[in-house]
Amino acid sequence: TLLAVLALALSYLLGSVPAAAWVARARGVDIRRVGSGNSGATNVLRALGPGPALLVAVFDILKGALAVGLGGALGLGPFPATLCGVAAVLGHNFSPFLGWRGGKGVATSFGVIAAAAPVVGLVVLVISLATVFLTRFVSAGSILGAVTAVLLALVTAQPAWLSGVVAALAALIIWQHRDNIRRLQAGNERRLGEPK
Ligand code: G3P
Repeated sequence: TLLAVLALALSYLLGSVPAAAWVARARGVDIRRVGSGNSGATNVLRALGPGPALLVAVFDILKGALAVGLGGALGLGPFPATLCGVAAVLGHNFSPFLGWRGGKGVATSFGVIAAAAPVVGLVVLVISLATVFLTRFVSAGSILGAVTAVLLALVTAQPAWLSGVVAALAALIIWQHRDNIRRLQAGNERRLGEPK
């Protein structure tokens, strides 16, 4: 329906607001040219420190959660409302403001999952943060979090459509981390707290 198309388009636009690139630019940094080159909170942490990184992380999480909320507010059912969250992730990863490039969709996907299945989101957050704390690889925490989210969706018997959405988001996250996976295998992935 027209309303669903409108909600999806607005969600995509919301997701495409490139917080990392714009926060960095405001501080005179081209985020694509430092650290991993990724437009995400992790790379902002490397380039600019914890304050700006937290700002970007919170904004990017909210993009996902608010898109789901927007779908609901416009009267869509849970499945299409959650697809609005997926549209926000696609906007984040493939943003018209960044020449159809963008980030890896970890924070925004987390916002979508936390909005659609809060218990799954909470457990994923704990496992991901523990992984980052123990390994100092944010990419490892992101990938393990993505896999965990799928398993948890199945274990907690979420509706099939939601497990499908979570699996699609997880697959996209892992694909977006293909360079990180190569670096992890080669032993030259960046650790938190190490020189860029
Ligand atoms: O959310 C992105 C994170 O998992 C990896 O970021 O900059 O190390 O590629 P980065």
